[in-house]
Amino acid sequence: MSDSLPAPVRLPTERPSAFDPPTELAELREKCPVAPMDFPDGHQGWLITSYPEVRSLLADPTFSARQELHHHAPYDHPFGTEQIAPAEPGFFIGMDAPEHSRYRRLVAGQFTKRRIAQLTPRLEEIVESCLDAMEAGGSREADLVEHFSQPIPALVICELLGVPVEDSERFRGAIRSFFDLNSGREESEKAFAAILEYLGELITRKRAEPGDDMISGLISRDELTDQELAGISLLLLVAGYETTANMIALSVFALVTHPDQMALLRAEPDLVDNAIEELLRYLPLSAGGMRAATQDTDVRGTPVKGGECVVLSLAAANRDPARYGTDADRLDLRRSATGHVAFGHGPHQCLGSQLARLEMRTAFTALLRRFPGLRLAVAPEDVPLRDDHLIYGTHRLPIAW
Ligand code: HEM
Repeated sequence: MSDSLPAPVRLPTERPSAFDPPTELAELREKCPVAPMDFPDGHQGWLITSYPEVRSLLADPTFSARQELHHHAPYDHPFGTEQIAPAEPGFFIGMDAPEHSRYRRLVAGQFTKRRIAQLTPRLEEIVESCLDAMEAGGSREADLVEHFSQPIPALVICELLGVPVEDSERFRGAIRSFFDLNSGREESEKAFAAILEYLGELITRKRAEPGDDMISGLISRDELTDQELAGISLLLLVAGYETTANMIALSVFALVTHPDQMALLRAEPDLVDNAIEELLRYLPLSAGGMRAATQDTDVRGTPVKGGECVVLSLAAANRDPARYGTDADRLDLRRSATGHVAFGHGPHQCLGSQLARLEMRTAFTALLRRFPGLRLAVAPEDVPLRDDHLIYGTHRLPIAW
């Protein structure tokens, strides 16, 4: 590392408010957008905070997405900092070309317009039934996380993978314990094994009796083993559930605490798609993407050695004033948030982005329509935040109407 660089930083994690990324990220973006970073296991890598560099590194083949290469956890991880094995077959988010491209092409071929169109009425039904269940409670108050933002993406993934309704509770139970970092290692591993066992059974059933779902669609291509199919299904689950659930809950939290913005969306429902892009830009969901340099290179004039890991802060990039103006830290549903990196960029850009947008649109539209008096049921500072999870959000969101 060059002598003129500042002392290495630790990944900042403390947030000044529910919606803002750590303040140090903005300071780094201004003074040292390619900052040397100390990882908890002693590795020295880099923290990237400026929009142009985050975006270009996400698409740069010199920086590998192979999980065994960027295995240095940027924060204290509950499972320690041991070496991570290469991605399981099918779990292509942790691979590079050509394996990555082969799996991605097969899965992208399943996210067809027809499939999304077919999912739409079912999604509307799922959203309405969540709202019915909240109203049926009779108290005009409910936890939005438990009754709305979590069940919607979980049930949508069941629908996508063709999990029968009668199995959905077993499936969701396993997902819940898998994602609960407080479960501890043994419990998490048990939950992981339970999901894989379930997916194995499901794949066997789909081979015998194909349906109109994504797993059956992938089986019909006759190019994937059962193990690869299970890896792909697990990836869809891991990538598509907590992200969407927390994005829905944080968005509603942001709307009810920015009454002018909520009033605007109520007055102009056609603004919803623009509002979704702005919420995706504004809300910090994860610490960022991880990559590892495969050879000596330089980023914005700073030398980076082969083998060094980079943390690409999507949240800092999405708030970069150089891209979004001096009011980048303000939620403005009328803003043009195009080019945000909430779904990443380049070869690994989110494959479920259109589905996630559809889920958000259906959820927000129905929620605002059903509850004209939607508000928080507690003070904003009493909403428990998921500072302790890999995907940020709220543990609960008590709302009233
Ligand atoms: C608001 C919700 C979501 C957000 C914010 C989000 C965000 C992201 C991001 C940032 C990446 C890129 C990671 C990287 O470059 O390392 C990604 C990849 C991915 N996402 Fe999403 N995602 C969301 C919803 C979904 C949904 C609903 C699905 C599918 C059901 C999905 C499936 C995937 C897959 C398969 C990948 C891996 C793509 C690849 O490696 O080629 N995501 N997502």
